[in-house]
Amino acid sequence: MLKRLHIEQQQKMLTIDFEGNTLEVCAGETVAAAILAAGAEYTRTTAISGAHRAPYCQMGICFECLMEIDGVPNRQACMVEVREGMKVNRQYGARGLVDEKNV
Ligand code: FES
Repeated sequence: MLKRLHIEQQQKMLTIDFEGNTLEVCAGETVAAAILAAGAEYTRTTAISGAHRAPYCQMGICFECLMEIDGVPNRQACMVEVREGMKVNRQYGARGLVDEKNV
């Protein structure tokens, strides 16, 4: 399990919803970092075998961190900064088509 090395006392904290659970996260960190720090072991499952995948590169290269963020699938969690009230879900299996009304 990953965890933060330290949190500055002055660090601003936000809350996000991760699969129906409220998480307190540090402002300025990415969704991927916040989810890993919360103890989640994976962020998506593969389309064929359903194997668990978790953020790897943390810089937008590997696409292992794809999640549904605020109702939009296929978001790279390592490239999205947390914001208050954000709703985040794991992405299970094959991606769906993005509803253009929600983009
Ligand atoms: S962790 Fe590799 S693209 Fe997000």
